[in-house]
Amino acid sequence: MNSLVKDAQKAAERVGLVSDKIVINGGKPLRGRIELRGAKNLATKAMVAALLAETPSTLRDVPDISDVGVVTGMLEAYGVSVTHGAESGELVLDPSNVLKAHFAKIDALAGSSRIPILFCGPLLHRLGEALIPDLGGCRIGDRPIDFHLDALRAFGAVVDKSYEGIRLTAPNGLTGANIELPYPSVGATEQVLLTAVRAQGVTELKNAAIEPEIMDLIAILQKMGAIITVEPNRVIFIEGVDKLNGYDHRALFDRNEAASWASAALATEGDIFVGGAKQQELMTFLNIFRKVGGAFDIHEDGIRFYHPGGPLKPVVVETDVHPGFMTDWQQPLIVALTKAVGRSVVHETVYENRFGFTDALIEMGANIVVHKEGIESVTRRVPRRPLEQAAVIIGPTPLHGADIEIPDLRGGFSHLIAALTAEGQSTVSNIGIISRGYEHFIDKLDQLGADFVYEG
Ligand code: EPZ
Repeated sequence: MNSLVKDAQKAAERVGLVSDKIVINGGKPLRGRIELRGAKNLATKAMVAALLAETPSTLRDVPDISDVGVVTGMLEAYGVSVTHGAESGELVLDPSNVLKAHFAKIDALAGSSRIPILFCGPLLHRLGEALIPDLGGCRIGDRPIDFHLDALRAFGAVVDKSYEGIRLTAPNGLTGANIELPYPSVGATEQVLLTAVRAQGVTELKNAAIEPEIMDLIAILQKMGAIITVEPNRVIFIEGVDKLNGYDHRALFDRNEAASWASAALATEGDIFVGGAKQQELMTFLNIFRKVGGAFDIHEDGIRFYHPGGPLKPVVVETDVHPGFMTDWQQPLIVALTKAVGRSVVHETVYENRFGFTDALIEMGANIVVHKEGIESVTRRVPRRPLEQAAVIIGPTPLHGADIEIPDLRGGFSHLIAALTAEGQSTVSNIGIISRGYEHFIDKLDQLGADFVYEG
């Protein structure tokens, strides 16, 4: 079996292993350079897109993370060959022999990721049917897939829910549709793109997500032969084509990982050069980073994030769809906000349960209150929703070491930052979750001078 799959299965097994832990002696600034790879939330989708092609694709800068391994395992189960290319981080995906997969194989891999739902359109085009097991992914809310299923039905798919998961067929093929998303969902936008590119006729998608990862996926689909037009007001037109060919693409850098290490530099009063980070896709984060009191220098090959000295300042931040402040950026930033002098507010508007990680910070001495209702704020890009929450962080509060168990990917990384910031020793367990989205993070902590022992 492909080594990526084996790594994924090992990492996936470890995701649940509380014994997979790291003992950190906090209080040391992180200093040094780390290199980013391609974005987890693009590379995994680009791999699924390769299923749509008649010829092999090459994806570059693919991160060595367990989410990539899960998608590799699923593609292999459907007969796609996934091999390492000559370059580090290069994957070659050959979909020439796509065939029906054995469900047990799929089910074994799908539990820890949300990506399987994106196989629907490509499998319906290739095989006329798709069987999708229950999804995994971070427990940060309900994470329903109603937008996905409604879109697939609009294309003409028949959706049957069974105890195994969801079975889809397309008795009359897939035809272009007019779809308006109730919310600019990243996954649902990807679902429509991956289905519409080979549907008969034109698809109009309204209220689409336009995150940089979406635009990079559109660039990949265009390379394959798709005809996609992005209008200014979140409207995307896709003209279905009969045939798509493989692509050669270097994945966009991982914005979430860049923001995570930047927050770590701020919280530990350190100085981290994040190789591969680009200003354009991080503008909103950089504004907040500067308002809190962080400093950054933009270079050709990356961004230097550092604590310039002096007190950190409180901010009011509202997460939003792009180009707003991404929901994935708030967890690591909140650790730095525990050191800000005053009252910060982080208003989470994307997920209904994304502050669970603050329990551990409170145990370490942080003064954080999570309000179940949102807080009135400036004008919104999308209508306010009843599920919003707000965390109020009062600082500065010194953090002391504690025993922490990681709940989810981004919250987990913020626990690492908190342990690195805290005075004294912390034991952080269940850290296998972090390998879902952060390549070789243990090596990177070592490169940055962290004082820890890894008990894998
Ligand atoms: C993607 O999740 C990312 N994951 C998330 O990153 C990211 O936080 C999110 O987009 C928002 O940017 C991947 O790309 C694998 P959504 P996705 O559909 O596509 C609701 C990380 O840490 N919704 O934009 O699942 C949903 O519940 C992860 O890397 C429905 O109600 O996010 C949420 O409230 C965490 N019905 C909102 O929309 C649906 O059918 C946004 O979700 C789909 C979504």
